[in-house]
Amino acid sequence: MQDLAGRRALITGGARGIGRAVAELFVQRGATVMLADVNAKEVAATADALGDAAHATVCDVTDTDQVAAAVATTVRELGGLDVLVNNAGVEIVKPLLEMTEEEFRQINEVNVTGVFLGMKHALPALAETRGTIVNLASVAGLNGCPLLGAYCGTKAAVLQLTRTAAVELRDAGVRVNAVCPGFVDTAMVDRAAVAIEAALDASFPDLVAAKQGRLGTVAEVAETVAYLASDRAAWTTGSSYVLDGGLSASLL
Ligand SMILES: NC(=O)c1ccc[n+]([C@@H]2O[C@H](COP(=O)([O-])OP(=O)(O)OC[C@H]3O[C@@H](n4cnc5c(N)ncnc54)[C@H](O)[C@@H]3O)[C@@H](O)[C@H]2O)c1
Repeated sequence: MQDLAGRRALITGGARGIGRAVAELFVQRGATVMLADVNAKEVAATADALGDAAHATVCDVTDTDQVAAAVATTVRELGGLDVLVNNAGVEIVKPLLEMTEEEFRQINEVNVTGVFLGMKHALPALAETRGTIVNLASVAGLNGCPLLGAYCGTKAAVLQLTRTAAVELRDAGVRVNAVCPGFVDTAMVDRAAVAIEAALDASFPDLVAAKQGRLGTVAEVAETVAYLASDRAAWTTGSSYVLDGGLSASLL
């Protein structure tokens, strides 16, 4: 399937995990991609590994100048911008009110301000191409969760920013959607699992098995992002797509 042929995509947090898998699938489907990540060494290595259709730029999504520069670099090197994937995100696993104010501000800076800055700086280029935005939210944005309170708040914010931007940008022809994965097999979840097991004295694999069957794969998330970025989703905007093995479907 080449349904992203000729599309030019900017993917934040593209060095590893879900962002890397999205970049890989986009390239397979005919897109060229700019990976933007705060980890300079890893983002360069990932772009190299993905071949000529993948480019890299260093960008901290919390810094407005760096985000503007990443968009400008994408337009200059790829010839325009059709898709923005706001994927960069961080987790802090801690009881909500034991977090320091600095930790709380930091997670909001990356997960919320980073998404806002991405959409804000990419909009002029996306309006020219009638392009599209996919934001990485989470099932954590749909419910509260012990140890993930601040993270849940940031992802709920991403969902609401997605909805409002979609409505405000409809007339400009720019679609905005979000994806809400459950626990996916990445370094983020490896880190979270250690903290969750320590705090709850429970086996993380057992929790995952009971609540969502298994971990999701980065390829499964990438498939959904690619669908939302393609013209197959031409009438889909302001939506959020849940992929979580049923985690959010049940109270018990
Ligand atoms: N893994 C999961 O289970 C899961 C579930 C739901 C949602 N998500 C969301 O998906 C996205 C990707 O998660 P992942 O599991 O691949 O994470 P990850 O930690 O494996 O990778 C995140 C990437 O983002 C980059 N990054 C972090 N802060 C950045 C910043 N300030 N500026 C630019 N880049 C930055 C990191 O360097 C890294 O390359 C995140 O938004 C996350 O919240 C993940």
